[in-house]
Amino acid sequence: MMEFLRTRRTYRRFEQRPVAPEILTEAVEAARIASCGNNRQTLKYVIVQSPEAVAAVQPLVHWAASLPPELGCPKPGEQPVAFIAVLQDERLPGCSDTDVGLAMGSMTAAAWAHGVGSCLMGSIDRPALTELLALPEGVKLRYMVAFGYPSHQSHLVTAVDGNTKYYLDDARDYCVPKRPMEEVLLKTL
Ligand SMILES: Cc1cc2nc3c(=O)[nH]c(=O)nc-3n(C[C@H](O)[C@H](O)[C@H](O)COP(=O)(O)O)c2cc1C
Repeated sequence: MMEFLRTRRTYRRFEQRPVAPEILTEAVEAARIASCGNNRQTLKYVIVQSPEAVAAVQPLVHWAASLPPELGCPKPGEQPVAFIAVLQDERLPGCSDTDVGLAMGSMTAAAWAHGVGSCLMGSIDRPALTELLALPEGVKLRYMVAFGYPSHQSHLVTAVDGNTKYYLDDARDYCVPKRPMEEVLLKTL
């Protein structure tokens, strides 16, 4: 499990082969059964998998704010091959940011169990995507999640002097600094 969690990272460049629809549906199934406050289940999803729809989404999501675009933004031939839109149905009571996070954690883990990498995307053109996805009134777009078989690796490194900015190494693999245990585990009582 720990090795699974260490490698279930953010991936931003992908092989150009499709992810089976069953894997994307299973990712939504994992989100569907995730824990949520008072079991209210206010989240909905749209799977974007047709090449035409995926191509329409690509310019509406923004990559890797910590990197210059020529490094962080996937080029044609590197882009994700599917997206899942994570939606909050505000017509239902009990909307919760925590529920969104837990659902996306389960969704991306279910995909990674099949070797499918992902990137959670909060920096997105919500008005344009809402129109593209033809969302009903009261159903709000929260995140897009990009999917595909990664064409790079991502390594955890130890953050030094509080510097958490991720970077690419010489092999164009991501290096993701995480604060060390002694900094985050305050005490054990
Ligand atoms: C709430 C949230 C929103 C994010 N939005 C974006 C985004 O819009 N674009 C992007 O390239 N990465 C996005 N990311 C990915 C983060 O940059 C990434 O999780 C972080 O750099 C740590 O890397 P790791 O996931 O491999 O630990 C987002 C992650 C989270 C949790």
